[in-house]
Amino acid sequence: MTKIIRSPFFYVGDKYKLMAQIERLFPDDINTFIEPFLGGGSVFLNTNANRYIVNDLEANIVDLHKLFYSYKDNKEIFIEELIDIIKDYNLSCSFIGITAPEELKKKYVKTYYAKYNKDGYWKMRDSYNNSNDVKLLYLLLIYGFNHMIRFNNNGKFNLPVGNVDFNNNVYTAINNYMDFISQKNIEYYNMDYRRFISDLEIEKDDFIYFDPPYLLSNSEYNKMWDEEKEEELYNTIDFLVSKGIKFGLSNLLIQKGEENYILSKWMGKYNVYDIKSNYISYYDNSIKKSNKEVYITNVEKTRT
Ligand SMILES: C[S@@+](CC[C@H](N)C(=O)[O-])C[C@H]1O[C@@H](n2cnc3c(N)ncnc32)[C@H](O)[C@@H]1O
Repeated sequence: MTKIIRSPFFYVGDKYKLMAQIERLFPDDINTFIEPFLGGGSVFLNTNANRYIVNDLEANIVDLHKLFYSYKDNKEIFIEELIDIIKDYNLSCSFIGITAPEELKKKYVKTYYAKYNKDGYWKMRDSYNNSNDVKLLYLLLIYGFNHMIRFNNNGKFNLPVGNVDFNNNVYTAINNYMDFISQKNIEYYNMDYRRFISDLEIEKDDFIYFDPPYLLSNSEYNKMWDEEKEEELYNTIDFLVSKGIKFGLSNLLIQKGEENYILSKWMGKYNVYDIKSNYISYYDNSIKKSNKEVYITNVEKTRT
């Protein structure tokens, strides 16, 4: 696979930038590609297989994937419907040339999208919080701060407006995702990865790729992950390997000089590859030097 495509969910910690390094370490022929920690889907979107079975514990991200899948043969209609909503809420849409007035652009050189879209975004956020319409959730993700999905304790979406809009990059990402899924057989699930795996019949020509929450990182979805879960995951992988199943796992071995010792102790029995990552922490963009990302697998490298 040559051109790496970007997921339209712009997920925090997505594997988009690392896919070129990781995918070439996957098996050459994959019957079913299994992904228990799907996130935004950057990995399955860039992997060749006969079919895909994917899962995430976070219901909203799975609902978003399913929304796209429900339009897989109608991508033009989907995009038209999104643009109709954008117009209903008077949001900018650089993709079709609706942008902020020049005055605003001059006054707020770097933040004019946020200024222009704030009111419409709030209205859209209220509508979503009253309806749970997944299409609105997708647009909140597009127009929201850092393309994130975040809810308060009462289950209400609470991110502020971002300085972004529906532009050509968003269109291209939607288009690519739709083109990919329209030709593929994909099953999406929403449960804990252990149940997901135990419900599957995994064969020797299948491949299971793990991109779990990172023990050393502080993304929203890492908050529920702890050392016990980390150990449990490695035991699960060892069990799968004992059944002859092929796996790959991405993880952060060192962050800000701190090492994940559970990982370093476990990984030696498999093939370990250094992955050149270039994460810029949302909180501190000076710390990337002391990070080390690895890819671990029981697959022998067949391509260079
Ligand atoms: C590092 S992210 C995956 C990113 C993904 N590879 C991408 O490119 O977008 C980890 C994901 O695991 C999910 N997750 C956390 N705990 C889980 C669990 N127990 N079972 C299944 N998924 C879980 C999170 O919701 C999050 O989407």
